[in-house]
Amino acid sequence: MPRVFSGIQPTGDPHIGNLFGAMKNYVRLGEQYGKNSLYCVVDLHAITNPASHDPSRLAERTFEMAVANFAVGLDPDKVVFFAQSQVPEHFELNWIFTSLTPVGELERMTQYKDKSAELESVPAGLLMYPVLMAADILLYKADTVPVGEDQTQHIELTREIARKFNHLYGETFPEPQAVYAKDALRIPGVDGHGKMGKSKGETSTLGILEPLDSIWQKIRVAPTDPARVRRTDPGDPDKCLIGDYHKLFSDLPTIETVYQGCRTAGIGCVDCKKLLMEGVRRELTPIQERAADLRADPDRVRGALEQGAKEARAIARPVIEEVREKVGFLKR
Ligand code: TYM
Repeated sequence: MPRVFSGIQPTGDPHIGNLFGAMKNYVRLGEQYGKNSLYCVVDLHAITNPASHDPSRLAERTFEMAVANFAVGLDPDKVVFFAQSQVPEHFELNWIFTSLTPVGELERMTQYKDKSAELESVPAGLLMYPVLMAADILLYKADTVPVGEDQTQHIELTREIARKFNHLYGETFPEPQAVYAKDALRIPGVDGHGKMGKSKGETSTLGILEPLDSIWQKIRVAPTDPARVRRTDPGDPDKCLIGDYHKLFSDLPTIETVYQGCRTAGIGCVDCKKLLMEGVRRELTPIQERAADLRADPDRVRGALEQGAKEARAIARPVIEEVREKVGFLKR
């Protein structure tokens, strides 16, 4: 049976890019593979970003990220769901992999280049970020990794690290494959500036748990096809953010109506946005209701994370023992 692993950073509120690009696949694969699917709030990764150096905020965001995932449909009794820092074996395997990975390869990672370019002082952890990701995945010998397209290069590096370890120390790890949501590879930000991203701030994101009024305010002013200067100008829905979002939230008849309407100038952008908002409301309302119930019982959420960490460690420990022996560390 496949072993599934994925992680999500508690660096901001989870957004619809996370939802359609990754979290829906967590739920789907979780239903298929049960306790053979592991999902993790990667707080160790989060602290590679100086913006996360606020202890109470980090703890709160880790909690909120668990709430969001449970609200979307991951059942902690059926899958393994935990916080990365509660499973210290991640640190251990990370160090071993750090020692196998050339700095040059890490410097070539596009996410590293983008993120480091924005910082005055670059933490070494940001460079090592993909190594820790490889440790996350291979610690459970996972072969299936549901992610958005932006993680492709990191998964490729994970495969290289697995190959290198296997070559040096004998066959140990699988070479994991990414699994993408084919209709949601790279959801654009609502401000029209590239990919929707937690670290880009609230102007880019539509939060899964964001109040619907606030979501509407962002959609209302979101850019549309620039060719439609006047209401009577025909547009191209394939070049429009709102057209992209309709594909995520609306049913087929609505999509056909707005696409046709846009091309023939039969529908105005405001009406098109209102129709989109109906789909958003339908999708997010039940999630937000479940999140409110979960927040009302924080001990249950924390208890689920502790239980998840126990289950994860039960899988991770024998792998670490095997790795230690192969590397040549003395028994402890
Ligand atoms: P993170 O927290 O940035 O994002 C979580 C997941 O959401 C996907 N995603 C998107 N998909 C489509 N369109 C978007 N606009 C969009 N924005 C984000 C991401 O691809 C990701 O799958 N490095 C990872 C966390 C991680 C991890 C791992 C993932 C740590 N260890 C091990 C897989 C396996 C990250 O930054 O996710």
